[in-house]
Amino acid sequence: MPDKDKQPGQGEAEFTPEMNPPDRDLPAPEGELVQGGGFLRRFLDTPADNTVKTVIVALGLCLVASMVVSAAAVSLRPLQEKNAALDKQVNILQVAGLYEDGTDVAEAFEQFEPHVLKLETGEFADGENVEGQLLDPLTFDDRAAAEDLTLSAPLDDDPASIGRQANYVTVYLLRNADGSLDKVVLPVYGYGLWSTLYGFMAIEEDGNTIYGLQFYEHAETPGLGAEVDNPRWKALWRGKELRTEDGAGELAITVAKTPPQGQEYFVDALSGATLTSRGVDNLVRFWMSERGFEPFLERVRAGDI
Ligand SMILES: Cc1cc2nc3c(=O)[nH]c(=O)nc-3n(C[C@H](O)[C@H](O)[C@H](O)COP(=O)(O)O)c2cc1C
Repeated sequence: MPDKDKQPGQGEAEFTPEMNPPDRDLPAPEGELVQGGGFLRRFLDTPADNTVKTVIVALGLCLVASMVVSAAAVSLRPLQEKNAALDKQVNILQVAGLYEDGTDVAEAFEQFEPHVLKLETGEFADGENVEGQLLDPLTFDDRAAAEDLTLSAPLDDDPASIGRQANYVTVYLLRNADGSLDKVVLPVYGYGLWSTLYGFMAIEEDGNTIYGLQFYEHAETPGLGAEVDNPRWKALWRGKELRTEDGAGELAITVAKTPPQGQEYFVDALSGATLTSRGVDNLVRFWMSERGFEPFLERVRAGDI
């Protein structure tokens, strides 16, 4: 109950400056130094709606946020690179038919024999030193090589729309227990409708029969161009042949709406994604031509590998 007889202030402790500190929201009178305050104190004492204070706080927040994002990007990069390498290995295993759920990727991948291939000659260039760069099949970066001016050349006639072509690429051999060749896995890439599609083509030991084609990176439209990932479409590639006359003839493999030649060289284009299909046709025909892997495939067909 309030004491009705008490006058206001009566019987209450008298306020002293210590008990009643200056209002934080009120700036100190001009020219007056706030007790114990430096720049920070004066800044904190500035009203919250002060424009300069708002800008400084916003800039500070931006700086801190950008530092956090940069630190996260830098610290996560090794993990991202490791995952990208793992994803590529899974794709190489898948295109060669060696991947099932639960497969130990690192262990299964050891079955492959990687080589750096000189495209022009179809010869392996492992351990060679080109323009001061050691061609190590375990570390060679195909994508970086395609942009490296000393390891690549510009393309005038460029059906795969890749701009430059690396002179060297990494290929993966799979051997049978007796050491004979089982399959070769070759990197292929080229432009679809919206994006560059990166993938691998596995070819059987005859150097002419396709075992599989699979893309591990692209940005085509889900449900349309991205149907290149549909297992049913990928299955169409198995057993198709690159060239006529068991490899000795002309390059015949074609992705189209209607078969221009025999069924053995024909893959049905994706419906509703003719442009992506045309991109796949272009890139496959480019990489399997004399400017791509044909010199190497000739050696495979000759049993030299
Ligand atoms: C939003 C949108 C996304 C599309 N994405 C693709 C695509 O990824 N690949 C493709 O070939 N066509 C794509 N198309 C369709 C093409 O524009 C074109 O119509 C189609 O390639 C023709 O194929 P069709 O002759 O089999 O119908 C897209 C169309 C739209 C409107």
